[in-house]
Amino acid sequence: MGWKAKYTTGITLLDDEHKELLELVNTLISALESPNEGAATHAHVIDGYRKVHDHIVAHFADEERLMHNIGFPDVTEHITQHEALRQELEQLGKMIKEGRTPENWEPLASMLNVWVLRHIMSHDVKIRTYLHRSPS
Ligand SMILES: [Fe+2]
Repeated sequence: MGWKAKYTTGITLLDDEHKELLELVNTLISALESPNEGAATHAHVIDGYRKVHDHIVAHFADEERLMHNIGFPDVTEHITQHEALRQELEQLGKMIKEGRTPENWEPLASMLNVWVLRHIMSHDVKIRTYLHRSPS
């Protein structure tokens, strides 16, 4: 999956981080879908997972700080969504570290993929709507 204009929030920091996140998720998915099994693949998967994990944790912190700063009204609901995604991410990490087979990883990785995009589409773009609202 690639970056699309409809994912834009109009906030450079968030858009840059979202783009990087999509790239990292794609890299992780390639590692998960790699036909070669064994130690090399597993190391790639663990490395890919760690990068996605660290990026998401840092990105959510940035995004949450930004929402507070601009007085975004639905910040609590948005943080709840972040928390749910963080938990799914921990679950994925556990499966990866336990060294389960790629057949088990792949559905979780695609879920993560869909989840991240859906989150950006349905929640992060609301920040754009809020910033561009007409003055009341
Ligand atoms: Fe978000």
